[in-house]
Amino acid sequence: MPRPETDTAAVLKAAQDNLWMHFTRHSSYDAGEVPTIVRGDGAHIYDIHGKRYLDGLSGLFVVQMGHGRAELAEAAAKQAQELAFFPLWSYAHPKAAELAQRLAELTPGDLNRVFFTTGGGEAVESAWKLAKQFFKVTGKPGKHKVISRAVAYHGTPQGALSITGIPVLKEPFEPLVPGSIRVPNTNYYRADEITGFPGLTPEQFGRWAADQVGKAIEMEGPDSVAAVFVEPVQNAGGCFPPPPGYFQRLREICDQYDVLLVSDEVICAFGRLGTMFGGQKFDYVPDIITCAKGLTSGYSPIGAMIASERLFEPFSKGTNSFAHGYTFGGHPVSSAVALANLDLFEREDILGHVQKNEPVFRATLEKLLDLPIVGDVRGSGYFYGLELVKDKATKETFNDEESERLLRGFLSKALYESGLYCRADDRGDPVVQLAPPLICGPEEFDQIESILRTVLTEAWARL
Ligand SMILES: Cc1ncc(COP(=O)(O)O)c(C=O)c1O
Repeated sequence: MPRPETDTAAVLKAAQDNLWMHFTRHSSYDAGEVPTIVRGDGAHIYDIHGKRYLDGLSGLFVVQMGHGRAELAEAAAKQAQELAFFPLWSYAHPKAAELAQRLAELTPGDLNRVFFTTGGGEAVESAWKLAKQFFKVTGKPGKHKVISRAVAYHGTPQGALSITGIPVLKEPFEPLVPGSIRVPNTNYYRADEITGFPGLTPEQFGRWAADQVGKAIEMEGPDSVAAVFVEPVQNAGGCFPPPPGYFQRLREICDQYDVLLVSDEVICAFGRLGTMFGGQKFDYVPDIITCAKGLTSGYSPIGAMIASERLFEPFSKGTNSFAHGYTFGGHPVSSAVALANLDLFEREDILGHVQKNEPVFRATLEKLLDLPIVGDVRGSGYFYGLELVKDKATKETFNDEESERLLRGFLSKALYESGLYCRADDRGDPVVQLAPPLICGPEEFDQIESILRTVLTEAWARL
């Protein structure tokens, strides 16, 4: 629906003059307008001029059930009329209680205690704080450090940022919270370089990568390490799935040293991998799950840290309490929307839909491997990364200047102009990331493939 000219100009001017966008180089819009999205419908979004795009990233790994779902908007309106706000600070409200129970039923193992936040970074922050306080109240006060993986993104609060493994994001804010240690990630495409042992099988690589966590715990001293933070499939770096056996070995190591296994499922929960929680896809039970994004399909913000019975137990008695909270954590409107969203998941069997179509998504993207610039296609469920390389035989990647010119200068813009909203990312090696709404199927996969083929072919020609 095109907007009146004056309206359009006013919005674009306000975006230029007053809006401070996140992780954005504002100068890149000096010569042009800020891309402005006004409306969504199903798997599509529309810009301020009425142009339609396929949402290849579900907003930001968020809009699982697609845009424009009246049921979710209505759930929000109904709850706002009934009880717009009340905190969870010593009080409950029905929707948060009901949502906590629903999530407890859906989680694996005995992860039955749900601590609500407003987003993913706060969930990660809460998990580290819980790990520290849990060990303090259970007689192991020295256990406070955390281990996470190279290039992994875990959010922007100072604790979560400390856990994050992307140096350029951390540097402007150092010193961050001390006590955070990095281990290698599960990038099998570059396993030779990472391990120094050429030709490892996925199983051997998985064992090696998990054992690096054990080594880090030994190096730091098991009495000082509280938790390991890992995503089921690591997003930053371009969708690294776990090699077979990785999580089983990691679980053993965590048990051996009494270190908490935190599954950061801010992206991987709520159907992104075809299961309700990401760990279920790879058959492991963590001690804590952190989640957010897809829980409401983005119709209202919420996050959660979900902890096992063992972790809650010391806080269930005496004068103990978890000294932590957020005004808007478990907001009634967001809780109501989350419940309506989970109803939609069931009614439309969205997990079944993703499981059925996942092989088609993979096969469609793998067609792009015939292009000289596409080195690797990897991921799981509806969550994929395409790694771009300069030389497929040697896996040589682009230098900083080429990466800047290719990803920032050309690819992101060209994909968008061709009608595909997705993400070209260079936080690790250069990748294009895809995570379409879970309602998508073969038709949308073909559109994605076709646009990528055209644009990546041109990118190669420009190199
Ligand atoms: C794995 C992971 N953890 C944490 C976060 C931070 O979530 P938020 O942006 O909601 O704070 C993200 C965001 O993308 C994420 O992918």
